[in-house]
Amino acid sequence: MEARQGAAIKSLRTRGAVSELLESSIPVAAPFDAIATTYDDAFSNSSTGRVQRRLVWIETDRIFRAGQRILEINCGTGIDALHLASRGIEVIACDSAPGMIAVAQHRLKTSPIRTAVDFRCLPTEQIALLEKGGPYDGILSNFAGLNCLSDLNSAARDLARLLRPGGKAILCFFGRLCLWEICSYLAGRDFRKAFRRFHRKGVVATLAPGSTVVVHYPSVPSLRRLFSPHFRLESWRGVGIAVPPSYLEGLTVRFPGLLELAAKIDPWLGRCPGFRALADHVVLIFERSTLSNS
Ligand SMILES: C[S@@+](CC[C@H](N)C(=O)[O-])C[C@H]1O[C@@H](n2cnc3c(N)ncnc32)[C@H](O)[C@@H]1O
Repeated sequence: MEARQGAAIKSLRTRGAVSELLESSIPVAAPFDAIATTYDDAFSNSSTGRVQRRLVWIETDRIFRAGQRILEINCGTGIDALHLASRGIEVIACDSAPGMIAVAQHRLKTSPIRTAVDFRCLPTEQIALLEKGGPYDGILSNFAGLNCLSDLNSAARDLARLLRPGGKAILCFFGRLCLWEICSYLAGRDFRKAFRRFHRKGVVATLAPGSTVVVHYPSVPSLRRLFSPHFRLESWRGVGIAVPPSYLEGLTVRFPGLLELAAKIDPWLGRCPGFRALADHVVLIFERSTLSNS
């Protein structure tokens, strides 16, 4: 499987599918390339990753409808794009990492889904290039791709230009105060990691030797402010309060009953003021306001 995906990445490169990036003047690093073929095993296919994704799908399935055109940014290996397509939604899905896009295209090719999914290798910093094809009915960003951006203000402005007035953007960020993370690292006396999400300038995360990404952890109030010129924050929920982050998968393997119970109470805790702020991820539902222009 890995070899086939590696070949798919090579073919994507030689076919020039990354030309948009190469021609661009903005330097774009794609550190997730280093883990493209292992990402699903480490995150998406872990039991904690699957449960957390199902919780995000509660929102996507409530808000996005068959027949709509949805733009997904930082789509990774395409799991959400195919989920939306399986529900009759047309999807344009972008990511800056050619390797992730190759895995996504491979997933599409081997799936029975016939609804259009257009995977593109395009960084969010250049998402405005898609304006000609817009406006879109909705926007999705799942599992913290936006936490990798250093300039969220520009991203908010560009996304506003792509979304129709009244359209919804479902944006999933890392939470700032993940209870599981704080407790587990404190238990191991790693104080730096326990409170890493409070660093104002972001934290360098090593994905693989030589591949690093700076991760920023904005709070929900600061995100509300940052998006407010163009969007109204309709609601938000926590995902992963009782359900641990995927790097604690070992714990749920040792105590399977724990995950079962956590999966049952997480949807409720995620909506509960107070508790929802303790989540691994937060899902913000923004509505494109009709008054402001970008
Ligand atoms: C944690 S993964 C999430 C992937 C996917 N959304 C999911 O739910 O599995 C973060 C993704 O963001 C992408 N990413 C990081 N920085 C980006 C950027 N500046 N523009 C577009 N994608 C970016 C990475 O390549 C990676 O695929």
